[in-house]
Amino acid sequence: MTAAPSPAPLTDAQMRQAADHFGTPLYAYSAAALDAALQRVRAAFGDARVWYAMKANPNLTLLRHLQAADVGFECVSLGELGRAVRVGAGGDSVLVNGPAKSDEEYRLGGELGATFIVDRAGEVELLPPRSRVLLRINPGLDVSTHDHLATGAAHSKFGVRPDQAPEIISALRSGGHILRGLHLHIGSAIRDAEDFGAAFERVAALHPLTGPLEVLDVGGGWGLDADLHGIAVEAEEAAARFGAALWVEPGRYLVARAGVLLTRVMGHKTTGRAFTLTDAGMTELLRPMLYGAEHPAHALWTGEDSISDLAGPACESGDLLGNGVTLPAGAVRGDLLALLEAGAYGAAMSSNYLTRPRPAEVLWDGEGWTVMRRRETAEDIWAAELPG
Ligand code: LLP
Repeated sequence: MTAAPSPAPLTDAQMRQAADHFGTPLYAYSAAALDAALQRVRAAFGDARVWYAMKANPNLTLLRHLQAADVGFECVSLGELGRAVRVGAGGDSVLVNGPAKSDEEYRLGGELGATFIVDRAGEVELLPPRSRVLLRINPGLDVSTHDHLATGAAHSKFGVRPDQAPEIISALRSGGHILRGLHLHIGSAIRDAEDFGAAFERVAALHPLTGPLEVLDVGGGWGLDADLHGIAVEAEEAAARFGAALWVEPGRYLVARAGVLLTRVMGHKTTGRAFTLTDAGMTELLRPMLYGAEHPAHALWTGEDSISDLAGPACESGDLLGNGVTLPAGAVRGDLLALLEAGAYGAAMSSNYLTRPRPAEVLWDGEGWTVMRRRETAEDIWAAELPG
């Protein structure tokens, strides 16, 4: 099943060193790979403002790194807004998004002077006075991705239908808010580039109703092999219809390939299927279980090819990191395996299920390692519980 692994962002020697020093499971990232991804985005999208969807990986070290490169932040919770504040982002560098924003999120976003992404008509009266806003349009298209990741489909909960937009726009304007522009984000890990063009076209068709706008924000959602230049051409065309500046909101594209999950082989077994057992599983990397996502597996041992499923330590049958993965045979307990393309939605979606402390995260900056997040302890996990 697994295609030839794409190259890891770190050398085998670096990955071994990190695992030996910091233990496993471990998330290890390369600053150079992060910078290279941002450069690819800027090369394709030119002057477009880049907003990092921090849900992909909200680690403060990564946020500071991106902020230094003049990237803004898209935030979808009070906690994410708190992270933006924590790294010193001002209102011009913060977007407040989400389908069900809390009073605290409106309050903090308002205090910061952030731009709100309005997701439904009822928000008009909840916004702080004179808010700067984008209105999120749901283009109602079938999107080529896992159903959980499609946000621009007619049945998804996000945004407003194009035919609902005129009334909401006039309510926003008469309510004293500042409509900066329109927003769309059709989903994540989208396979077919045509989906973007079709969605941009549906939103651009609203131009006669809106008139000129300051901003068109076309979201993120690009698969790792996406033709960014192709998407950029279509996005620029759509923005030009409004005379608007183009904004983009990548999450995965910026950080996925910069990160690997390092795990050690715990052993083997064969039931109806052959398993390679690892010390990481669904609690460290949920994506294979939740979306059937395939993360290329890069073994740091050698041998003849053999096929097995990668199974984690959790007491759940679905706790698999890979199905039918080709790995060198003969791994011994302690051998190191890297799951690639794990920098986005890996650590961010890790959990404490089974009282498993979340892994440490480390960054290679070309000269040495920085611990971006220390390994949790079991005590950290129960610290918030009443003394029992
Ligand atoms: N903008 C908005 C409004 C979003 O909702 C998202 C992602 C992004 C930007 C960034 O999308 P990206 O460029 O990362 O595809 N947990 C899932 C992904 C959920 C994405 C949710 N929204 C996963 O592990 O694949």
